[in-house]
Amino acid sequence: MQSFSMAGYQTRFAGKSAMIKRPKEITCFSYDDNHVLRHDGSSLRYYYTPDLHSDLGEGFSSFIKHDDSVDEHLDSLLESLIELEKRDGECATKDVDFVTWRGMVTKLMTVPYMDDGFEMNAVFYDGTIYIEENNAYKQATRGVQDERGARMSYWGYKFETLSTLATPWGEAPRDEIENRGREVVNNKAQYCSIVKTGFGNCSLIIAGEVDAIWDCRPMNPANPINYVELKTSRIIMTDNQHFNFEKKLQRFWAQSFLLGVPKLIIGFRTDGGILTSIDIRDTQSIPSKIKKAHISQGLGPPPWDGNVVINFTTAFLEWLKGTLAGQAGVWRIKYRQRSGAIEVFQVQESGYAGVLTDRFLAWRSE
Ligand code: A3P
Ligand code: MG
Ligand code: MG
Repeated sequence: MQSFSMAGYQTRFAGKSAMIKRPKEITCFSYDDNHVLRHDGSSLRYYYTPDLHSDLGEGFSSFIKHDDSVDEHLDSLLESLIELEKRDGECATKDVDFVTWRGMVTKLMTVPYMDDGFEMNAVFYDGTIYIEENNAYKQATRGVQDERGARMSYWGYKFETLSTLATPWGEAPRDEIENRGREVVNNKAQYCSIVKTGFGNCSLIIAGEVDAIWDCRPMNPANPINYVELKTSRIIMTDNQHFNFEKKLQRFWAQSFLLGVPKLIIGFRTDGGILTSIDIRDTQSIPSKIKKAHISQGLGPPPWDGNVVINFTTAFLEWLKGTLAGQAGVWRIKYRQRSGAIEVFQVQESGYAGVLTDRFLAWRSE
């Protein structure tokens, strides 16, 4: 077993942030309303300001919910890479060190300040390390969701439905706009962006769900894509709630930063799930604004530091690359709350244990 220590991270990883590359989209895919994979952007949604005072709980009993206990591994991401390689005629992972879901890198980025445990599986294949979530650990630690928890989770999806259209707003028929409140909420459909990005000397292909786009896809692929991330949060009444919100912003920021999503749209709600206001923030300026507010209002140090987060993630990924490159078999990346170190050890001497699909391996050996 090898381990990456977190000791003294606040000073070890402080200072200017490491070289990071701006994420660049290489392809996208969708799941349709039945969660069937499609190699296109058909499930992309378009932002449209929601009606305030909407009840986010409305329609809860007709929610069409995706069963997320099934282990989907990296399957659709690998399918997308095959598709991309067929289209471009070249290997998509040439000079790429890591391929993973956005959620895995978010977990790494939140280790220094949020300290949530996780388990991942990793394999090295043809120059690249592929990382997935260890589904057994995820299922074992998820806890049982009670009625209130299920309702609160629904609020987030309902907010997405109330704030988006299936067509750009300029082309959307009047009744699509007016009927948003009656649309059945279905989280089986998803739109995912796949980007190439970098931390220090590591290059990564990351895929993740994108909630919507502000306008529409740019005609010129060199132009930035105005994706938006939608979130709901409880209205802030007390200093303590403000502090908790700032802490939570760390995950929101990390998620959006990783895919280069420039805007975060937060729907504030009451305890009963009534939407009260909308706040639009630039992803990039979230860490500096928190820092400035803390300094100007004499609030003491901010709850997290974006540079420390980026430097920590870079150092860990560079270490992981050095540890796993060229290794055979299946490896576990494990972190436990307050343990102070991320552990990496082999769990299988050979094979890929479902991290890579037979289809992907067959395609690559053609
Ligand atoms: P909120 O984030 O507004 O609560 P995402 O924001 O990542 O696109 O996720 C969309 C919604 O999925 C969330 O909206 C939340 O309702 C639900 N969700 C995501 N992760 C969840 C989890 N671990 N448990 C319960 N619900 C979750
Ligand atoms: Mg989402
Ligand atoms: Mg969201």
